[in-house]
Amino acid sequence: MTRWTRKDLLGLEDLTREELELLLEQAEAFKEVSLRPIKKVPALRGRTVALCFLEPSTRTRASFELAAKRLSADILSFQGSSSSIAKGESVLDTARNIEAMRVDVLVLRHSTSGAAAQVARGVRCSVVNAGDGSHEHPTQGLVDLYTIREKKGRIEGLNVLIVGDILHSRVARSDFWGLTKLGAKVTLCGPPTLVPPAMELLGARISYRLEEVLPQADVVITLRLQLERQQEKYIPSFREYARAYGLDRAKLEKAKPDLIVMHPGPVNRGVELSPEVADGPQSVILDQVTNGIAVRMAALYLVAGAHPRHASEVPEPNPEVAG
Ligand code: CP
Repeated sequence: MTRWTRKDLLGLEDLTREELELLLEQAEAFKEVSLRPIKKVPALRGRTVALCFLEPSTRTRASFELAAKRLSADILSFQGSSSSIAKGESVLDTARNIEAMRVDVLVLRHSTSGAAAQVARGVRCSVVNAGDGSHEHPTQGLVDLYTIREKKGRIEGLNVLIVGDILHSRVARSDFWGLTKLGAKVTLCGPPTLVPPAMELLGARISYRLEEVLPQADVVITLRLQLERQQEKYIPSFREYARAYGLDRAKLEKAKPDLIVMHPGPVNRGVELSPEVADGPQSVILDQVTNGIAVRMAALYLVAGAHPRHASEVPEPNPEVAG
């Protein structure tokens, strides 16, 4: 049985198949905690988790906070605009100061690719990447793996189609690494300006025509157009994008009847997905959100367990000075 030995969780590219399976098994074990009347286990009692979100987030931030609370950890939460980062302090200096307060796990979201790895090299506490620029979003990748396995019973051999702004998507990268390590066949589809051709060298199939690849898919992961990361115009208009790559009822009629539709959120309704598909019977988008808590409980629990406990570093009371 694989043991978790990594200090940090920075991306899925580095992980082995066994480590991915361990994370998914641990998430499976934690899933029922959220169904209990008292949604709490003492697994991280006495530990402190800092949530440092320097980019907007709804799902990831809320589910990390709930995950830490359900593991009985103490939580320290701050955002860029209300911290000394707004006064020019570097993220690494901020992280070192947070660590000096005996924090065990630092969860970091940052707009720069590689920010979480840079901070992880500079601190002794564990770092969990909650999304770094367009590089990776490992816990969203794990949520997607978990949800696919839950709905389809397996990942090995499935045809998974990822549609949209692959170029700027950290979710697409984490999904690609996780899915291919677990034996899925991954097709990337979008406008030529938003699909990096080099992904073919890594084993992805690439298509620019959704109607050609949708009929073979068992799972379709649609992605948000990352307008905040687009420095130039990559698509002629939202309307043309929606016509070619947006999933609507007419396109779904040509897909397998048991196709599941996923999206990491937030959804641009009417662009990536029509409202009837986003809310329809094949959509598992809210299941992804629910699974986010169990997956993040697993991530926090495993990295905190691999890290020497600050509590165990506290010296035993000396009876000669204890009065
Ligand atoms: N999927 C995701 O990362 O959503 P948030 O930006 O709301 O955290």
